Amino acid sequence: ETIPSFIFTIFGATGDLAKRKLFPALYSLYREKQLRCNFAVIGVGRKNIDSFEFRTWVKNSIAEFSRLSLCAGEEWEQFAARFSYISFDVKDTAKYAALRSLVEAKEQENKLSGNRMFYLAIAPQLFGTVATNLKESGLTNTKGWKRLIIEKPFGHDYTSAEALNEEIKRSFAEEEIYRIDHYLGKEMVQNIQVIRFANSMFEPLWNNRHIDNIQITASETVGVEDRASYYDRAGALRDMVQNHMLQMVMMVCMEPPSRLKTEAIRDEKVKVMRALRRFSEEEVDRHIVRGQYIAGTIGGKSFLGYREEPDVNPASTTETFVAAKLYIDNFRWADVPIYIRTGKRMPEKLTEIVIQFKELPKRLYFNKNNDLMPNLLIFRIQPNEGITLLLNAKKQGTDSQIIPIGMEYCNDCEAASPEAYESLLHDAILGDSTFFTRWDEVALAWKFIDPIRCAWDKDPCSLAEYEVGTWGPVEAHELLQKDGKRWWTGS
Ligand code: BG6
Repeated sequence: ETIPSFIFTIFGATGDLAKRKLFPALYSLYREKQLRCNFAVIGVGRKNIDSFEFRTWVKNSIAEFSRLSLCAGEEWEQFAARFSYISFDVKDTAKYAALRSLVEAKEQENKLSGNRMFYLAIAPQLFGTVATNLKESGLTNTKGWKRLIIEKPFGHDYTSAEALNEEIKRSFAEEEIYRIDHYLGKEMVQNIQVIRFANSMFEPLWNNRHIDNIQITASETVGVEDRASYYDRAGALRDMVQNHMLQMVMMVCMEPPSRLKTEAIRDEKVKVMRALRRFSEEEVDRHIVRGQYIAGTIGGKSFLGYREEPDVNPASTTETFVAAKLYIDNFRWADVPIYIRTGKRMPEKLTEIVIQFKELPKRLYFNKNNDLMPNLLIFRIQPNEGITLLLNAKKQGTDSQIIPIGMEYCNDCEAASPEAYESLLHDAILGDSTFFTRWDEVALAWKFIDPIRCAWDKDPCSLAEYEVGTWGPVEAHELLQKDGKRWWTGS
């Protein structure tokens, strides 16, 4: 599909996200010929720089973070010429008139058709203010389309998310709002649907008659970094579970959509959220483990404990790890535990989904431990994108020594995959919101999260410790052991 002409206004243009993700993504789209002379970018930020300095800023960010090398000469000049900058405080209503003049001037100069994309890469408490000011200044009044892309977090709980949504809705319709969950832009997350619905061999088995349990792990080696002011108030439940982890649950557990259309797909995802069992405050303890890292080492390198990190409250009870046992109460998934686990300062950075199939009705073969591995289907979301199917087979040259064999597919061995932000920006420009989150998904996710938070707030003792460089607190292992199961990822 050809990309229509558009103007892209980025709020927070001198911030971290723009630097690490947005400029490199625009650059890749440009280099890969998806964008040509059909766009302009306006950066809005608090830093007092001019457009010339802004282009250098963009250049440096691409040199540092792009997966493609920086082009030189005329090709770079043509790209850089599309960027301009305006500095103002987004709370200052009067300043939006100047932004509007700049947008109109750039549209004329570049013969753009009036399509306007606004990207909010700013503090979430300003989302509503900017959306309102965009409308009141007339910036949303255009002959082309208008769209708003919003970064997370979308609210802090259900009530704040709903208030934010109401505020934004006054300026943009639901179909004009693109809520980012960058996990949905990851190649292998998008591939889950294809593997499930383009192959005849998995779908017949994709239910509680054949699947024993599902495990989703997203581990990170990084700690809180320089984000304590946000993270210490959010914690892993809000930072990773409410969005990324639940999105992966939806992708794995949704019914096949009737058509490959945005709303048909999102409708099926929402049904998973409706069927996701909500825990009462009393049930939280039995199903959910939360942990916080204490000092330890990863690969021989020592790291501080969470409470010793800069800007973290030394008495903080914020969780940096969550493991949970979830249930989806519908015909397909009744009684199949879905174990999820995510945390900071773990031994490896990886995201993996493991589907464990049920045991055979009777064992005829055994491995050398007098046991037999279950069949596993593993989606490797990152790194080493791909799929592994684990089967049992006879060891070559022996009569009956049974060994597990892995059938492997590598998704990024021949060429690096596009970054999540590239694919999401591309979709947003084309008006495809399939891999963005709809309001009802967000609302239901918060309704699941809120009682858990409430239970924890009342019971600070439920916080377990885990040492840096481990796969979480012992309680996270016990959660599966109690069910006679184990985590397959890591140890
Ligand atoms: C972000 C969280 O949404 O996702 C971060 O705020 C986390 O805390 C990040 O580190 C993980 O994303 P990725 O793409 O590195 O797995």
